[in-house]
Amino acid sequence: MSSVLITGANRGIGLELARHYAADGWQVHATARDLTSATDLKAVSGNITCHALDVADRVAIRQLADKMTDPLDVVIANAGVSGRPDGGGMPGTIGDLDYEGWRDVMEINLFGAVATCEAFLPHVEKAKGKLVAISSQLASNANAFLGSYPYNSSKAALNMAMNLLAIEVKPRGIAVGTLHPGWVKTDMGGQHAPVTPSDSANGLKQVIAGLEPAERAHFVDFEGNTHPW
Ligand SMILES: NC(=O)c1ccc[n+]([C@@H]2O[C@H](COP(=O)([O-])OP(=O)(O)OC[C@H]3O[C@@H](n4cnc5c(N)ncnc54)[C@H](OP(=O)(O)O)[C@@H]3O)[C@@H](O)[C@H]2O)c1
Repeated sequence: MSSVLITGANRGIGLELARHYAADGWQVHATARDLTSATDLKAVSGNITCHALDVADRVAIRQLADKMTDPLDVVIANAGVSGRPDGGGMPGTIGDLDYEGWRDVMEINLFGAVATCEAFLPHVEKAKGKLVAISSQLASNANAFLGSYPYNSSKAALNMAMNLLAIEVKPRGIAVGTLHPGWVKTDMGGQHAPVTPSDSANGLKQVIAGLEPAERAHFVDFEGNTHPW
């Protein structure tokens, strides 16, 4: 049976990914910061195991990886934050930048995602599988006209880290993706977003299935279109 680990799976895109993989018969390892309130995740039917994990806690990431010994075909570092205190708006223009808030965004979107890939690399190596980060079109220099300093820079740095990772793990037969999920109707994407979480997850799952080891990460959107760096 194929297996996947998904971080931040209690709501939004992560929850839909868990539902789609579970519905397809995969063994799903789904993580959430607070398992007690992860009622939607716990209601997902299928072969699913839930784990408590805050990706800002690198010791906890390592402990979870040490606890799990089975191979993983796919690891999806999905957990992320916008950096907006209320989940809306775009904070911080020059002269008004919140460096502590920016550091928090980096901690989760960059270090949390990379540390997840690093800790579970041995599991993915056993399966000659795939390491995936959920990035954003806002990481792209082509989109440098919108977004926020913390969010865009965290995802741009993530893309660079995933590129370096791709070079390192290609000889071990591992593929690396840094994927744009679309503008998705979630707490982060907001109600005006045109893509449903289900369509995003369905597309991401198909894209992930097609990823091959390469000299750089695949920066691709949920519809399979290669994204400009
Ligand atoms: N929605 C969009 O339009 C869009 C576009 C481009 C990229 N993305 C990316 O897609 C990914 C998922 O976004 P989404 O739209 O599903 O967002 P969301 O609905 O806000 O969900 C974010 C998820 O990340 C988790 N998370 C946040 N901080 C965490 C931490 N420190 N440790 C563990 N989990 C943590 C949240 O858990 P809690 O419930 O505990 O907070 C939640 O499960 C993110 O990486 C985001 O940047 C989204």
